[in-house]
Amino acid sequence: MNIRLFFLILITISSSALFAEIENPYQKKHFKSENKSMIAFDNSYFDSIECKRYDFNTKLKRQAFQIMDELEGWCTYQKASILIDFVLMARPQIIVEIGVFGGKSFVPMALALREIGAGVAYGIDPWSSGESVQGMEGPNKEYWSNVDHDAILRGLQEKIKKHGLENQIQLIRSTSIDAPSIFNIDILHIDGNHSDETSFIDVTKWVPLVRRGGVNYL
Ligand SMILES: C[S@@+](CC[C@H](N)C(=O)[O-])C[C@H]1O[C@@H](n2cnc3c(N)ncnc32)[C@H](O)[C@@H]1O
Repeated sequence: MNIRLFFLILITISSSALFAEIENPYQKKHFKSENKSMIAFDNSYFDSIECKRYDFNTKLKRQAFQIMDELEGWCTYQKASILIDFVLMARPQIIVEIGVFGGKSFVPMALALREIGAGVAYGIDPWSSGESVQGMEGPNKEYWSNVDHDAILRGLQEKIKKHGLENQIQLIRSTSIDAPSIFNIDILHIDGNHSDETSFIDVTKWVPLVRRGGVNYL
């Protein structure tokens, strides 16, 4: 079966209850589709008019964006805003992120956890060039071979301490396949190695660990 089709079916089945429990006024702004099982969307969505209408000007988001400026990574303010909304709406006990790097998408979710006063965010990443180059070719391979993963991890640990997020965050230095399974996940964010092979492992291992009605964000 085509790998993309397999993912789509798997995600749709596992998450058919998404937002059944998280009815909220932002749903229509954040999702083009009325289909309640529509949960996987790509970054092009964040450039859409619907997303741009959203008000980022809350105290929590302003604080998150400031901290993001100190962190390494690729997460945009728009994406962070949506991740924060997921946390505020779902009020999760357990968040798992696969592929943390410098924490640019992970730390905003942890900040939102602190705001609601509950929950833990588990960040899984091997912080290893050897793992990052798996399945990569050309410029991507060159880029990932030259990243100083130890320094990226150290930088993240310093920022977690600086911003007092130790109670909300647990970092697990491991590949997604070797990491211990975490059950009843409320919010899963998969952003690890983007090769077909590793993405396949990430989805097949972790999506089934999301609780019914939980959020999968790929
Ligand atoms: C695209 S970056 C993550 C970006 C981050 N989420 C952000 O928004 O800034 C991909 C990360 O996946 C990690 N990674 C590579 N192989 C992995 C694996 N097998 N399991 C988990 N993470 C992996 C890399 O170390 C890297 O930090």
